[in-house]
Amino acid sequence: MKNIYSNIYSFNTKSLKKTIKSLKQGKLVGLPTETVYGLAGNAYSGKAVKKIFKLKKRPKINPLIVHYNNYKEANKDVILDKNFFKLYKKFCPGPITFILKKSTKSKINSLVTANLDTVAIRFPSNRIVKTILKLLNFPLAMPSANIASGVSPVSAQDVFEDFKKKLKIIINGGKSKIGIESTVIDLTGKPKILRPGIISSNEIKDFLKITLSSKRNSKIKSPGMMKKHYSPGIPIIFKGKPSKLNHAYIVFGRKHKNNQNYFNLSKKANLREAAANLYKILRKIKKKGYKKIFIDKIPYRGPGLAINDRLLRASK
Ligand code: TXA
Ligand code: MG
Repeated sequence: MKNIYSNIYSFNTKSLKKTIKSLKQGKLVGLPTETVYGLAGNAYSGKAVKKIFKLKKRPKINPLIVHYNNYKEANKDVILDKNFFKLYKKFCPGPITFILKKSTKSKINSLVTANLDTVAIRFPSNRIVKTILKLLNFPLAMPSANIASGVSPVSAQDVFEDFKKKLKIIINGGKSKIGIESTVIDLTGKPKILRPGIISSNEIKDFLKITLSSKRNSKIKSPGMMKKHYSPGIPIIFKGKPSKLNHAYIVFGRKHKNNQNYFNLSKKANLREAAANLYKILRKIKKKGYKKIFIDKIPYRGPGLAINDRLLRASK
């Protein structure tokens, strides 16, 4: 695919060099990952981390995920325990984020963690971001590369839409394979899913023989999680069907017509495919000028839990 904007780069030796240089200088870059695109900066640098919050317009109370190439590097900053290694062996690198206790010798900037004594860490599998992490001697703080509370980006173009030329480098890694953010699991107490993702609690249960609660409430562990999020900026409605042509209908499965205002997440009724299409479809509906979005029933199992979670929060 051709890059039509001067700050979107294909991944090659030249752009890699430029990216590494920028990150070492405390600048930010837009990077592809297997889940969604991230806004990356040096997690040890206050200067870089401040820029992330500012550019995203993110509330300071919402902590960031720190990305590493492997557990050996993370070992310096967090306390890795038995439960962590069980899941690491099975799912990493990949779309899962662990909340762990920060170690006393950790170099992670306190802004990253919103002054909490815990850190969210992730090991992305995307080839481009892995190559970059290998060449750095610091981890990357990397939230999704969108303005706070908006829809997460699944292409370099999406990142450009939110930040325009304010971001000097966006690496084009094509469409994000998974298309929704990583599963977040808190391992600081009884293991608990804080944000559902493609890796479901059922899959995790097979490796961690501990009761998992997917209930998000009781005590909000991560401040940013209950607020409005993933919003395309138009009302989202779970009951009923569209009655006007300027209402869009997000549907799932075979039974639907090909009406112009119908957007099918997966004609094959495949939940993984639906997750991968979700954000692209939300952006498309917004761009086409629809005034409301109605949602068809999407099954509450596997990736369907994550899809329903994102849509519910987008509707707030
Ligand atoms: O797939 C992903 O995780 C993407 C890619 C770019 O890696 N990143 C991402 O970051 O989704 P972000 O900032 O959009 O979401 C991070 C989530 C937030 O809901 C935040 O509240 C939570 O992780 N979080 C971060 N640190 C935490 C902590 N110490 N305790 C609890 N929750 C935390
Ligand atoms: Mg986000």
